[in-house]
Amino acid sequence: MSHNHSPITICALKFDISGDGLVNNASPSLSWKFQGDVLDWYQISCDIRIDRETGEENYHFDTSKSLFIPWPSTPLHSREIAKISIRSNGRGGEDTPWFGATVEAGLLERSDWIAEMITSPFPPHTDLETPSRPFLLHKEFHLSEVDLAKPARLYATAFGIYEITINGVNVGTQVLKPGWTSYDHRIYYQICDVSTLLRSGPNVIEGYVAEGWFSGRLGFLGGKRNLYGDKNGLLAQIVIDDEVIVKTDSTWTASQGPILSSGIYDGELFDVTMAGVRAGKLPVDILPSPGGELILDMAPIRRMEEIVATELIVTPSGKKIVDFGQNLVGWIRMNRPPSDGTSGDRLVFSHAEVLENGELGVRPLRVAKCQDTIILGTDNSILEGWEPKFTFHGFRYLQVDGYDDGLGITDFTAIVVHTDMERTGWFTSSHPMINRLHENVVWGMKGNFVGVPTDCPQRDERLGWTGDQQVFSKTANFLYDTTSMLSGWLQDLAIEQAEQKDVPPLVVPDILAKIYPQQAGMTLAIWGDAAVLVPLSLYEASGKSSLLVEQYESMFAWLSKGIPRNEDGLWGKKSPDDTQLGDWLDPAAPPDFPGDGRTDPYLVANAYLVHVTRGMAEISRLLNREEEALRFEAEWQDLRQKYIDNYVSKTGRTVSDSQTALALSLHFDLLSESQRPVAVARLEELVKQNIFKVATGFAGTPIILDVLAANDRLHLAYRMLQEKQCPSWLYCVDKGATTMWERWDSMRPDGSINPGEMTSFNHYALGAVASFLHGTIGGLTPLEPGWKKFRIAPRPGGTVTSAEIKHLSPYGMIRCSWKIESDNLKVAVCVPPNTRAQIDIGNLQVEVGSGKREFEVGYVADPRWPPKPIYHSMTIPLIDEIA
Ligand code: BGC
Repeated sequence: MSHNHSPITICALKFDISGDGLVNNASPSLSWKFQGDVLDWYQISCDIRIDRETGEENYHFDTSKSLFIPWPSTPLHSREIAKISIRSNGRGGEDTPWFGATVEAGLLERSDWIAEMITSPFPPHTDLETPSRPFLLHKEFHLSEVDLAKPARLYATAFGIYEITINGVNVGTQVLKPGWTSYDHRIYYQICDVSTLLRSGPNVIEGYVAEGWFSGRLGFLGGKRNLYGDKNGLLAQIVIDDEVIVKTDSTWTASQGPILSSGIYDGELFDVTMAGVRAGKLPVDILPSPGGELILDMAPIRRMEEIVATELIVTPSGKKIVDFGQNLVGWIRMNRPPSDGTSGDRLVFSHAEVLENGELGVRPLRVAKCQDTIILGTDNSILEGWEPKFTFHGFRYLQVDGYDDGLGITDFTAIVVHTDMERTGWFTSSHPMINRLHENVVWGMKGNFVGVPTDCPQRDERLGWTGDQQVFSKTANFLYDTTSMLSGWLQDLAIEQAEQKDVPPLVVPDILAKIYPQQAGMTLAIWGDAAVLVPLSLYEASGKSSLLVEQYESMFAWLSKGIPRNEDGLWGKKSPDDTQLGDWLDPAAPPDFPGDGRTDPYLVANAYLVHVTRGMAEISRLLNREEEALRFEAEWQDLRQKYIDNYVSKTGRTVSDSQTALALSLHFDLLSESQRPVAVARLEELVKQNIFKVATGFAGTPIILDVLAANDRLHLAYRMLQEKQCPSWLYCVDKGATTMWERWDSMRPDGSINPGEMTSFNHYALGAVASFLHGTIGGLTPLEPGWKKFRIAPRPGGTVTSAEIKHLSPYGMIRCSWKIESDNLKVAVCVPPNTRAQIDIGNLQVEVGSGKREFEVGYVADPRWPPKPIYHSMTIPLIDEIA
């Protein structure tokens, strides 16, 4: 037994991808995480004990695997609860104590659902301008003492967004239920333990249903409503001890409550005078049951944080604005209702991300109103703690109109809402602006992981753009455990792709096909490549190879049938007018043509094609698909040569003379050995000529700093990162950004909002730069899926003198902190149990097992710092500022 080290214990047990023990799978895999820092500890075997209704079962496996161990027992049946205990046996007899957790199966068979989808008799809403009015559905039922002796579960979902109360108490902690999926194919349901809410005697269950994504207005250019149907509905049943004691059916009644309208883009209208009133008590209608599969929601959306206001602002025009100091996604809670007011007066809350000329900057919201309104009564006390229920906003600033009661800074709290994922990545350094940049990336992710990974959370869009997720997924997977949310989203992608001639939709769930059928099937690299690259990145982060099995058909279909090809196998066009979005949002592109950047879009598409083909070869090999592996390996070699023939000069210049073209060619291994140095030298020149400002968009930005660092140009990578003038990462930070922006100059140096139609202040895509912070400054890179083996290779540079990084890997917490002290680099690392790390610092290269270790090597600052720009102009003053 080693001393001075904390012993190894198991600290978490996961069933498949479920963190809370609820599963949708009769045979969930088992994965466990370790804590403790015993040196070189690894698992040699494990014991699994399962306590089921049928008795206790014991299993022993001689395996070092602690992730995704197949379910050893017979399948669970619907609603079965079992207790699983694990003990992991370590090298040298150092075993962990037993660790137990409960697994509970959901409704595994469709026949378990005996409830009916019910709706109100109110006519469908067709008006595009205003959201529809949510409705209430009620039922009274009786229970005896005997009923209450057993645990009770509520199973529910909706066409729309729903909330359920039992005896006046809201059920569960989830919001915006059931979340957004490709409803025609897959619809999530939720399980809640309602045992403590029920009582003997009369009980009341009430459902509140709003339009949500199901029938609310969605899409840009005005969008469309009723995309999945024009009737909202509720499907719910409470089960006690295998008996359904209440279920939605024709015995329920419908009415209308105090919410007069509520929509995702436009916000909510609440009438105080209607609170507690149930207008009408009408019979309900029965809807056809959901055509899509009912799937247990593994990615619940919740209230995750509360933010207090930092300032009250009175604008030049006299408006009152509350500043929460952070651009966020969610809504506000009213802590102090106005004490006086005239019945019928309106209290209007307008949300925006920025101010322009001191006033609320709402233009970027396009035609999303993002406004919650309250019609006041004479007694407004019920507004204490009021929050909207069926909408969400992206905002930092809240303009309050009609609150004449001396607005105070504590009167409102901002509620941050996103999918409840486990946080897994942290980074901090000696450089405060780089730290803020990292925070902004994290906030960009929170705001755009509300059920679906979206482009932005505020304007009339908020869609699951595949390209945005593709470029950001490596960063996302470092920061949070996205497995549950993204694996569901990928299933939607695959299903919708199959319906569109093997081309993944540009947004998932695909509303574009429903709204703009002419755009459906638009075939784009980067966006379509999400079909291969998002699962691959998720597999690398999580170690879950079954994900690749599940997505294989979609990946294969994209490469072998979806991509239009020329005779030589490179990207072709379906029609002569076809185009690509290429290096989308290259800063050189004009505000209204973000795809019109410096790099030939087909060069970008083909660079990606070679890369994706190689990825496909690797995946096929991993899944033992020998025939496909050989095919894609051959295709990769062939396409690589064709890329070189078409886009690279003999010596190594690229035909688009741009940072993105060079970075893609270097990063995706698209150059011969003799061409690489020429490409690197030209890239260096372009970086210096551009005075270290960003010159890349979606394709180049995620990789440019990594490429510089990997090609002995670390000083240039740091120099670009530390540039403060526009366009640069720290320009946004300098301008007070608290999230990642869509454009480098969403806010222009003169304080005006970029006039482009697409100007959001919360777009995660360009935050992919955080991978450089994680992999190069922090120094952590996975070498084997799930971080079974990884590299610790921090690379100090620029003016950064220390950094600390943490990643909660599937095996446990990885830590690395370093600082430069006199002429030494001191590095402290912590490697989780059952993993190995390659340490690579200075001239020290060593492989180690688990535990805490410290290293010290000689450090010589890079003599190339600070690099000098290449300056073309004799007249324009040099704008070059290191942050
Ligand atoms: C979105 C982008 C998206 C793009 C593609 C935009 O409106 O906000 O992030 O990828 O459209 O066309």
